[in-house]
Amino acid sequence: MTEANGVRTHEGKVAIVTGAGSGIGRASAIKLAEKGAKVVVVDFNEQSGKETIEAIKDNGGEGLFVKADVSSSQDVQHYVQKTMDEYGKIDIVFNNAGIIQKFSMMSDVEDDHFDRIIDINLKGVFLGMKYALKVMEKQGFGTIINTASTTGVRAEHSLSAYTASKHGVVGLTKTAALEYVKKGIRVNAICPGGVDTAITAGVPKQFQESGYIPEELPNMRIGRFADPNELAEVVAFLASDNSSYMTGSIVLVDGGLTL
Ligand SMILES: NC(=O)c1ccc[n+]([C@@H]2O[C@H](COP(=O)([O-])OP(=O)(O)OC[C@H]3O[C@@H](n4cnc5c(N)ncnc54)[C@H](O)[C@@H]3O)[C@@H](O)[C@H]2O)c1
Repeated sequence: MTEANGVRTHEGKVAIVTGAGSGIGRASAIKLAEKGAKVVVVDFNEQSGKETIEAIKDNGGEGLFVKADVSSSQDVQHYVQKTMDEYGKIDIVFNNAGIIQKFSMMSDVEDDHFDRIIDINLKGVFLGMKYALKVMEKQGFGTIINTASTTGVRAEHSLSAYTASKHGVVGLTKTAALEYVKKGIRVNAICPGGVDTAITAGVPKQFQESGYIPEELPNMRIGRFADPNELAEVVAFLASDNSSYMTGSIVLVDGGLTL
């Protein structure tokens, strides 16, 4: 199988993509496989995760599905071990799984809901890095990409827990980049604005219900939401040797939203 433009920049690489059953994760898993990587598709939704693997295989690519909840240390250790058992190394990790919070003013955010957002969006990225870094440090190579958000670099009304979790992802990304910069491991984050995925399907309605409508919605400054493939292109670049001088970068892919 050859990629449309014939460039197999990820030939022979092994990639783990979390939240790969849908949206940005699925598009990135398919893109990395098209470019030659073997892809471990991680998601807690078994059906959609398996559909991603089918799409990869239908396209002539290679990969396997591992069901995991990224907020569970046990599950994360399991998918890392499974990757090593199957493929013997980890070149690329895309810590992307995440959930959106229920829109509300901070004083109305339920304690349990705050914990859940932090567990998945922030602790999930921490665990995904922690166990991959143990492997990558031994190997002496590896590249990690984490999905933050424009809410990782600025506030978003009615999304306090989500905003805090994504600021945390930015902090973890920079710290990991600093700690591992001499060990052959690069760590970067992407900050999407509005991407056309399951997460954003209900967003305009939720803003309306919360009584606060940001001026950018529903079209964003560029005039539209992103297609998940537009994020996958950036992920593939950060996962490739073409971005060899980038580490600790917090890459906005937001159609000008934060301008
Ligand atoms: N869509 C946007 O506009 C946008 C903007 C900024 C950031 N993001 C971030 O991008 C990432 C991907 O979101 P998306 O828009 O593709 O959403 P999506 O809902 O289409 O995909 C998210 C995937 O993650 C999986 N997932 C959720 N919790 C999980 C868990 N605990 N363990 C394993 N898998 C889990 C879901 O099953 C789903 O397949 C998220 O981190 C999200 O916060 C999205």
